[in-house]
Amino acid sequence: MRVLNFGSINIDYVYSVDEFVKPGETKAARSLSVFAGGKGLNQSLAMAKAGLKVVHAGKIGKEGEFLVKTLKDGGVDTRLIEISDVPTGHAIIQVDDKGRNCILLFGGANQDIGEAYIDRVLVGFGHGEMLILQNEISSMSSIIAKAKTKGMTIVFNPSPYSSLVPNYPLELVDIFIMNEIEASGLSGEHDPDKAAGLLMRNFPQALIVITLGEAGSMCAHKGEILRQKAYRVKVVDTTAAGDTFSGYFIAGLAEGMDIQKALDLAARAASICITRKGAADSVPWRKELEVGDIRI
Ligand code: RIB
Repeated sequence: MRVLNFGSINIDYVYSVDEFVKPGETKAARSLSVFAGGKGLNQSLAMAKAGLKVVHAGKIGKEGEFLVKTLKDGGVDTRLIEISDVPTGHAIIQVDDKGRNCILLFGGANQDIGEAYIDRVLVGFGHGEMLILQNEISSMSSIIAKAKTKGMTIVFNPSPYSSLVPNYPLELVDIFIMNEIEASGLSGEHDPDKAAGLLMRNFPQALIVITLGEAGSMCAHKGEILRQKAYRVKVVDTTAAGDTFSGYFIAGLAEGMDIQKALDLAARAASICITRKGAADSVPWRKELEVGDIRI
């Protein structure tokens, strides 16, 4: 099966710090590393490294061409990516001593997605094919509506959550993949179990996956909740763990796994991702997911 990921492409500037900088504080970072990133790019790589045929659509500025090479090297079809007059999107990421991150985004070319480009991208896709979306590009509502009209299956990761999300045509989404913060934003409920219950009621058509960090993940569908543990590893950098989880979960479903197996595959992949620095660079290949490779 072939999937289309219409998603962000970023340059990640990653600063290593002991603790995150506080309001009013000036702080020296210990180091700076530059990585390929963007939730879209990371998820395309995760799906491709898992073995799925992935076409990535999105925009970069002229200085972002190395990001296309990263996608190609990971096995992603990049023919639909266009160069914009707007600079490439970027992220300023602090990673602290506990491996936690905080991210400041500049949308750049990711916010230069308009109707003509959407039509050019969707022309080659149709019934039964999957569209993967995160929330880092412009014209989200239009992409969802146009893809659904063509009969595509819509997978939406509402990350990062924004006040725009509830205005998207979410009744057209077939699979939601989100973390606790996004689930709380979308449901108004902080407790993940209650959020899952509410989301199931509000979106009865959809499969709802909620990731819970070290508490694992859950999938709510048709009144039932499945749970998955997180594998215990030494945390170096949690950046792109959610993207790795999403990509591998989708790949698992696309190859016909049942939901529980796909959740387990995704949890294994995410556990390897957090033992490594960076975003795209930390996404593992499928062969690395053998049980023996994960120090549980
Ligand atoms: O999920 C991690 C990603 O979020 C980073 O690669 C950064 O670019 C932001 O999009």
